[in-house]
This record gives sequence, C-alpha cells and structure tokens, in this order.
Amino acid sequence: MFAKLAKSTLVAAAMTVAAAPAFAAGGAGYVENYNFSWQGPFGRFDQNQLQRGLQVYTEVCAGCHGLQYVPLRTLADEGGPGLTEDEVRAYIDQNFIEVWDDDLQDWRTATPNDHFPGSMLENAPDLSLMAKARTGFSGPYGLGITPLFNGLGGPEYIASLLTHYTGTEREEFGAVLYGNETFSGGYIAMAPPLWDDAVEYNDGTEATVEQMALDVSAFLMWTAEPHLMARKQMGFTAIIMLGILSVLLYLTNKQLWAPVKARAKGESSPAE
Ligand code: HEC
Repeated sequence: MFAKLAKSTLVAAAMTVAAAPAFAAGGAGYVENYNFSWQGPFGRFDQNQLQRGLQVYTEVCAGCHGLQYVPLRTLADEGGPGLTEDEVRAYIDQNFIEVWDDDLQDWRTATPNDHFPGSMLENAPDLSLMAKARTGFSGPYGLGITPLFNGLGGPEYIASLLTHYTGTEREEFGAVLYGNETFSGGYIAMAPPLWDDAVEYNDGTEATVEQMALDVSAFLMWTAEPHLMARKQMGFTAIIMLGILSVLLYLTNKQLWAPVKARAKGESSPAE
C-alpha cells in the first residue's frame, strides 16, 4: 500500500517536473534571470528602487496602462515606496489624478483612498497584478525550492519584455506589431516604451533602458504583492515556532516514556 502510494507520488512529481519547461515556454519566450533585491530568504524591497519604478510607471507606462487595484494611499505604506502622506497628495495633484464620483455625477480630484486610474488605452492590460499573472519562469507554483529563493519570475518576465525588442516590425490587420523575444508569439502590439533617459532620476541613477525596466518591474512586483515582506517575516516566525515546538514535543515524549523504558531495561537486564 505504501509502496503504491510512494510510486504514484513519484509519478505525479515526475509529471509536474516534465511539464515545467512547457509551462514556462507556453507563457513566454526568452526570460532573463535578473536578480532582485527581495529574492532570497532575507531579501527586501529596495525603497529607492520602488520610488524610481513609480516614476517610470507614472511618466511612461501610465499613458496607456492602469493600476486600478492599487489604492493611492498604499504608496505611504511601510515596505512600499515609502512616500509620506503629503507626498502622496502631491503625487495626486502633480499628476492630475481624477476619479468619477457617482454622487457628484462628475469628475473630482482623487483622494489617497481612491485607486490609481485604470488603463487609458483599451488594449493595454491593467498592470496591478501583472507581475503575478506572468509567473512561471522560476518553475511552477508549489514545486518548491527555486521559486522560494528566486521568486516566481513575473518581474523577470516584465523586465525581459521591456528590454528584448528585436527592432523588427510587422503589420497585421492594419495594426503594427513589434518583434519581441520575450512575448509569446514573438510580436507584441506595444511599441518599445523605453529609451535611454526616458526619465530623469533624482537620486543620480543613470536611466538606461535596463535600469528603468528593472525599476518598473520591481515596482510592479510591489503592486502585485505589497505584503511580501510581512509574509516572509511571518513565514520565518512560523518556522522558528515550529522548531521550538518540535524540541518541546521531543522532550515531552522522552519524559512520558521514561518510566516505561526504565522498566523495560530492568526486565531485560539479566544481572538483576
Ligand atoms: C503606447 C501605449 C503603451 C505604453 C506607453 C506602455 N504599454 Fe505596455 N502594453 C501596451 C499594449 C497595447 C499592450 C498589449 C500588447 C499585446 O497584447 O500585444 C501592452 C502590454 C504590456 C504588458 C503585458 C505583456 C503580456 O505578457 O501580456 C506588460 C507587462 C506591459 N505592457 C508593461 C508596460 C510597462 C512596464 C510600460 C512602461 C515602461 C508600458 N507597458 C508602456 C501599450 C503600452
């Protein structure tokens, strides 16, 4: 019975492993294995990088894409870009973020409790959860070690997508498609959105295409998984607690069986 169970588990595991490359290939073409600050058990979001990513998102991507699931006030949350509340208000004012108010039947300036606007361009997908939707590069969910240490690959996918345009173009049904090594199918309807110095960072970082791609991907990882740090911490606390619990259980077990063991020893010992 156990042998059978073990066998079927092995077969299932083997099938999952065999399916892994196909899964990755189905979702994407070429994905580069970038290293991000939050990877590894003690990794954290880099606040400066999240702020730069927010800037790239705002100045470049927001022209077409939305972040409709992200409340503006979370920009001030701990573990995120870490703006102050005043900076969040200034961000809203500077970018003229407005929301439709059902009561007023009119547009009004957003408050920190409102969300980022949705996509401006009909065929540009919302990016709030994109970093989670495009996982798979570091291996499928639930299979363990690589995703645990390297993350799930969504930000790697986005950064690769932004940096692996081939420069070729093709027309299809009157729309221009741009060659891209990462996008499945090899052609994407998004024109290359980044060029060197597309934004001017105020922390002195040089705004190369790759730098901006990494920064905005990190920012999009945060929008998709804002509580990553807290979850990691919780995981560690859980592991430590389980460790302590194991030791206590071991000691209790020993204590519990001590009299029985002592008796058994007495009976089996021929000298007594
Ligand atoms: C001019 C409009 C425009 C801008 C600016 C733009 N995008 Fe896009 N983006 C699109 C469109 C359109 C699509 C859909 C492409 C398709 O499905 O072929 C898209 C798709 C995407 C996708 C999804 C790819 C996939 O796997 O489905 C990501 C991720 C993305 N964009 C990220 C960004 C980021 C990050 C920026 C800013 C650096 C950006 N985009 C700027 C128009 C734009």
